[in-house]
This record gives sequence, C-alpha cells and structure tokens, in this order.
Amino acid sequence: MSAEPDTEAVAAGLRRRLADQLEEGGRLRSHEWRSAVEAAPRHVFVPRFYRETDAPGVTTWEPVTQETVGREEWLRLVYTDATWVTQFDGRDIDWADPKPISNAVPTSSSTLPSLVVRMLEDLDAHEGMKVLEIGTGTGYSTALMCHRLGSESVTSVETDEGVARRARAALAGSGHTPHLLVGDGRAGCPGDAPYDRLIATCGFRSIPPAWLEQVLPGGVVLTTLRGWMRSLGLVRLTVSGEGASGWFSADDPSFMIARQQDAPESLGTVPGPDDGTRRKATYGPEVLTTSGPAFMAQLAAPQARFFSLPVDGGQAGTFVLDSTTGSFAVLTVTDSGRQVRQGGPYRLWDAVESAVATWEEYGSPNRAVFGVTVSRNEQTVWLGNPNGPQWPLPS
Ligand SMILES: C[S@@+](CC[C@H](N)C(=O)[O-])C[C@H]1O[C@@H](n2cnc3c(N)ncnc32)[C@H](O)[C@@H]1O
Repeated sequence: MSAEPDTEAVAAGLRRRLADQLEEGGRLRSHEWRSAVEAAPRHVFVPRFYRETDAPGVTTWEPVTQETVGREEWLRLVYTDATWVTQFDGRDIDWADPKPISNAVPTSSSTLPSLVVRMLEDLDAHEGMKVLEIGTGTGYSTALMCHRLGSESVTSVETDEGVARRARAALAGSGHTPHLLVGDGRAGCPGDAPYDRLIATCGFRSIPPAWLEQVLPGGVVLTTLRGWMRSLGLVRLTVSGEGASGWFSADDPSFMIARQQDAPESLGTVPGPDDGTRRKATYGPEVLTTSGPAFMAQLAAPQARFFSLPVDGGQAGTFVLDSTTGSFAVLTVTDSGRQVRQGGPYRLWDAVESAVATWEEYGSPNRAVFGVTVSRNEQTVWLGNPNGPQWPLPS
C-alpha cells in the first residue's frame, strides 16, 4: 500500500479537482462529504482496474495499472468520475499478467464517484448515526463513510471473499477499521443492528425483509432495484413499524445485480413456429429498449428476458421468455404491422402492453412519480400514490 510521497501530493491535488467537479455537477452538496472526498485515497482502493475500450464489436476491457499506462496517467484515471471494474464473472484477475477481457460480466467495481457521493448526500447520514452498507466492493465508499461518521459507526457486507479481503487491506492501509463482514447482504448484519441508515451499492429484485428488521423506524434504506431485463432505478424508503415506503429518483442509475439474484443461466425453451396464439400488437419490441416503456415492461414481466433471432422465413423476431413459467411472446414487425404470438400460462405481452398503456395514460411520466410500498406480505411499485396503478415486485 505504500506510495511515494510524490504520488500522495499529486493524488491530493487530483482529489481536490474531483471534489470541485462533483460540486459543480451538483452531486456534492455539503462540506462534510467534500472533506471525505478530499481525504479518501481512491488510488489505494483501485490500484489496478479495467476500463472499457472503444473498439467496435464485442465489448472489451483493458487493464490499467501504473505499469500499463504510466504512473501519471494511472493516477489521473483513478481520480476521474468513472466506474472502474475490478472483477469479472466472480473470478479474481491475475494481475501478474493482466490481459484484455471480453465476453465477461463485471462483478465488482469502484462505482462512479458522482453516484456514490450523490447517494451519500441523499442518505442524509450525520454524526452519531449507524450505517449498514451492502456491497463493500473496493471499500472506497466505505472509506468515505468512515471519514464522515467514524469507523465504529460503519458496518459493510460483501459477498465475495477475495473482494472483501482486498477492501479490508485498503481500508486498514488508509486508517479505517469498520466492521466488515463476508456474506449475503440480504441478511444484513443483525449483530450490529439497529441502524439509522442502510445503503446498497448492488441492485436487488425487491427489498430484503431482514433490512426492515434491522433499520430503526424513521430510518432510511437507499438502494437500487433491478430486474433481469434492466434496472428499475434508485429508491429511498423510510422505514416504519409496518414496513417501508418511498419514491424512486427521477434519473436512472444502475448497479450490478446481487450475485444471488442473477437470472437463471438458461433463457428457457424457444417456442416452435406454430406455438401460441397470434394477434396484432399495439406496441412492438422497441418498448423493451426505450427508457420509460422498458421500465414498465420490467415491472409487468419481472421474470422475463428477451433476445432477437430469425423467425419464420428468416425475418428477425424478438423473443420474450419467462423461463420460470414457460410463458413466451414472439414479436415481429412486417409491412403489415406489428404482430405478437403468445403462449404459456401467463400472457406476457398483454401484461407489458397494459403497463405501457397505463404509463401513457398518465402522461408518460419520469421515474420520480413512482413509489414503492413494502409490507410484511407484499411489495408493490405504484404510480402516483400508493392506491394508484400497481405492480408487485418478485418476492
Ligand atoms: C458496484 S460494487 C460496490 C462498489 C463499492 N461500494 C465501491 O465503492 O467500491 C458491488 C459489490 O456488491 C457485491 N455484492 C453482490 N451481491 C452481494 C450481496 N448479496 N451481498 C453483499 N455484496 C454483494 C459485489 O461482489 C460487488 O463487490
């Protein structure tokens, strides 16, 4: 962890510059969190990382270390407002001989500082409060919280043992000793409860019930919700005696899904050309990839995933499959219009079209008019108010 004094001086300057940028962008709003950004040595938490290349074709990442790009460029990159990937497919990287990586899924990273800081500001945590973090990752966000609240007030859970070990060393190297736990963050950490605040930097399909038992009434849970097709966004819930409720934020930040909740490997069985019943479709496959409608599609079909394949006669079709129930929808767009062929126990495309139509009836609003209510028995996302149109989250 030791670095030449020169590195420390350059890094301190870069941290001030990063803090200026985050302030100008409106993400950093208080002097307490500014002081944390100026203090936390991100280069200790991401000494080596991967960045996406702009090469055309399949997404490829290249290694960035002092050796591969030189110390000056490495430090400059560390302190830019970017997400740096530190692990793929749950496997540690061989840093003795790092190679470019493609066809892989990032499984750990140091999140975009502007997103981390904005979440910390939204968390509204003050001196004397206890915070539970889910997804320690590199430990950088943990360090920011330790600086602001004191190590004794911070507990952080990481599911990956190697990731947690490196975070522990980096935190100790920068003088912080929070309680770090290796485990599934869905269980929280009952031993340190109750907490005033809970912040998750990986996405969950619904709110884990244990969190509500461990956060005090009046406390805040800040997490992203996500599905298998896309992220639903960031929610800020206030815990009550009965459960929790709150609103989505207007923008669309996305985190990697919790490891235990990743989609099943198999996409399901591709239906045959004569399976299902056909009808004209009101909406086509574009709703799956356009921000607002895609959010509605994710709510309406929480178990589904989609992909394109040639169908009858070689023309492209979009397959929407729910491997858990065997329900399917196949969408095609021809000169005569949009068509859907559906089958299985659940009419997937009927549900998607109904949700998108509701969203349009309400004026195609952004995410900020949606909220979440969590009770002991169910969790729902609603539009406008808790009695408005609603969609259950998977339990
Ligand atoms: C985006 S990274 C965290 C970024 C981190 N806060 C930072 O500043 O470096 C998400 C982390 O969540 C971890 N994770 C995934 N599922 C988890 C779970 N169920 N419980 C705890 N950690 C989990 C991943 O291993 C990964 O390290």
